[in-house]
Amino acid sequence: MATCKNDSGFQGACMTRRAFLFRSGAAAVGTVALPSLAGFEGKALAAQVARYPRMKIGKLSQLVKDKPVLFNYPDKGAGSQSLLVKLGVPAGGGIGPEGDVVAFNSQCTHMGAPMGGNYQPAHQALGPCAFHQTTFDLTRHGMVIAGHATESLPQVLLELKGDDIYAAGMLGLIYGRYDNLKTKA
Ligand code: FES
Repeated sequence: MATCKNDSGFQGACMTRRAFLFRSGAAAVGTVALPSLAGFEGKALAAQVARYPRMKIGKLSQLVKDKPVLFNYPDKGAGSQSLLVKLGVPAGGGIGPEGDVVAFNSQCTHMGAPMGGNYQPAHQALGPCAFHQTTFDLTRHGMVIAGHATESLPQVLLELKGDDIYAAGMLGLIYGRYDNLKTKA
């Protein structure tokens, strides 16, 4: 997995235009191509990326393969629970030497069921959702494997500085919000 380093020494998975977006201020939103998405080689995947204030969420040296760590991002509100996990295989948007450390919002994109405890190490997947059985592939930007949901899990964009892991933005929209910082009325 290719990585990029910015002027401040933060390292993250390379995405076209991402460096530009990440230098352009808080909550910048834009469209990026994700040419490294496994299974989609040769096709550009348009995706919405938003940058939020960088927040330290863990240390690379303390992550244990297949043991997710829960955190909240980009705020502490309902629906912001996310999980950080070292998958043990390279993943889209993954950071670290193996490109296998990823993070996702843990709320199902179908009807918002919490799935923080549903990680399946055998398949690097999240699910099945307790409500209607959707399962998401954490190696492929949270794509739906099976079930009722049609939207991928929102992926937390990660950056690495030394041993410190930072959340720095979101790829996708958290269920129940009209932007990732505002809950629907
Ligand atoms: S809420 Fe998860 S599949 Fe319906």
